[in-house]
Amino acid sequence: MAALSQDDPCSFSRPDECKVTEIHLNLEVDFSSRKLLGYVDLSVQRVKDGVPNLILDTRDIAIQKILDADNSQELKFTLGENTESFGSKLEVQLPVLASKSNKIRVHYETSPQCSALQWLRPEQTAGKRHPYLFSQCQAIHARSMVPCQDTPGVKVPYTAKVTAPREITILMSAVRLNPQAHPSDNSKLVHQFEQKVPIPTYLIAIVGGDLESKTIGPRSRVWTEKEMLEEAAYEFSETENMIKIAEDLMGPYIWGQYDLLVLPPSFPYGGMENPCLTFVTPTLLAGDKSLADVVAHEISHSWTGNLVTNKNWEHFWLNEGHTVFVERKITGRLHSGQSLSHFMALGRAKDLNETIEVVLKNGPYTRLIPDLKGVDPDDAFSIVPYEKGFTLLFYLETLLGGSAVFEKFLKAYIEKFKQQSIDSDQWKDFLYSYFTDKREVLDGVEWDKWFYDQGMPPVIPIYDDSLAVPCRELCQKWSSAGEKELEQFNPSDLKSFSSVQVREFLAQLLEQPPLSNTKIQKMEELYKLNAVRNSEVRFRWLRLSIKAQWKDAIPRVLAFVNEQGRMKFVRPLYRDLYSWEESRPIAIENFTKHRSEMHNTTATMLAKDLKLS
Ligand code: BES
Ligand code: ZN
Repeated sequence: MAALSQDDPCSFSRPDECKVTEIHLNLEVDFSSRKLLGYVDLSVQRVKDGVPNLILDTRDIAIQKILDADNSQELKFTLGENTESFGSKLEVQLPVLASKSNKIRVHYETSPQCSALQWLRPEQTAGKRHPYLFSQCQAIHARSMVPCQDTPGVKVPYTAKVTAPREITILMSAVRLNPQAHPSDNSKLVHQFEQKVPIPTYLIAIVGGDLESKTIGPRSRVWTEKEMLEEAAYEFSETENMIKIAEDLMGPYIWGQYDLLVLPPSFPYGGMENPCLTFVTPTLLAGDKSLADVVAHEISHSWTGNLVTNKNWEHFWLNEGHTVFVERKITGRLHSGQSLSHFMALGRAKDLNETIEVVLKNGPYTRLIPDLKGVDPDDAFSIVPYEKGFTLLFYLETLLGGSAVFEKFLKAYIEKFKQQSIDSDQWKDFLYSYFTDKREVLDGVEWDKWFYDQGMPPVIPIYDDSLAVPCRELCQKWSSAGEKELEQFNPSDLKSFSSVQVREFLAQLLEQPPLSNTKIQKMEELYKLNAVRNSEVRFRWLRLSIKAQWKDAIPRVLAFVNEQGRMKFVRPLYRDLYSWEESRPIAIENFTKHRSEMHNTTATMLAKDLKLS
């Protein structure tokens, strides 16, 4: 395979030689052929003299022609063969005599298999009247939607004109300008967007559907199909308060608008920090705002990730570790006290343990900074960069003098690196230069172990566990009780528990040996957990039911994995079904039956999990 750039093992591009400086998209959304068609204008600047070619990333893209945008002359190009992890390399011969900068126009269309896009038929939407389209570009799917330098090391502003049927609302990760009439077809509208802040390509995003919006704050609206609009507005009503806390921690919010989009249930993630328009899963609609920490997380990315960006996906923890760290500070301040944010950290530390020991078996992806040469970042994705990253920052905060001191560092870090892409060494160098008077303390940190060792973090901090105590006690009671001692339990056991505590109680039980059928059925009889709609509670309850080999639970698990496609829920449940011989064939059959309706990434990952590819 051809050499990849030194700076990003997951991109063919060579921004060190020739760099894209602006993107303008002009595309039409065609629901009938499931394609985006049109062109992209790329402004390019030669970084090294005499570089003849511009190298771009693509995947499943059909290129019609490439022009010099200034004089419409055709440019020669070669499209390399498709590689499974990174797509195809596109080399464009730049005009020889031209100055240091050029603009090229690539005429292209996407394929119906485009990995960044999911196209939904009207029947797959809540309203059932219009088709729907959404993108998910992180980590390396932007190249399937736009030929580009698909590396987070390159940041560019973008503008877009998107033509779509009049009844479809189009939104992007940018500021909306007024739509224009279509020059020749009255059934269509041309939507216009502008993102002035330079962003990495993984933050380019588009959605199209029968969308409506409701204002939820001075700079925020929530967008979704009208069936879910009121519910969504209620669930995310704390948005402005969260943004204000984030501004207090990290400086002004520079993106103008902060809107939320609630997607159809097949959206594969909890949330995605697309600038100006965070995408979230409808599984956050719990009815009691209890899952809004995901919104605090995505808001935080407006600084950690979208302003200060990981240089490549090996340094993904810089994005996610800092974001989780800030997310928990927001949760703490909103609920005035550390107990809730420590409780969340404690809960996730258990998930980290399961991921590292059981799922990844202490393997290479359990490093904070993994080696991604030849690796598709989707394959390496896990909560390790999130929670190991968080643990490192939390440990450093305590070590360096507490939150008042460390929050000042956080602000200085954003100020120092905003609008740049950096790696872990730059982060560490800045930490050392900021805390010059604490050099010895910093030298005591086992940096190599934190950065490069496999397995659990070298230091596990002590958290305030006051909220976890009742969960642990009830869990102990259930696991130690004999089959004949179950009358000690009654429905009021959970009465004083918040929904996050119920979630934690079940998570604790998941760490214990499986419950017997008698016990799990007694638990259902008393606590009525089958009726709980909160997705985080439901997820853990279903896992517990399958681990207890409770046959009646199989259809309930299938219903849950079929009605939503969030990978965090779907992958472990399929794994659980797969490891019990009774449910393994049922899991495979269910997956095969629903595969074509699923999001491309989810389907690809599940096929690997079920050893079907
Ligand atoms: N940026 C991520 C989602 C992501 C990461 C998509 C890598 C594709 C590749 C987003 O900010 C995120 O972390 N979402 C979490 C929620 C969070 C509260 C941990 C999720 O989806 O669960
Ligand atoms: Zn995140």
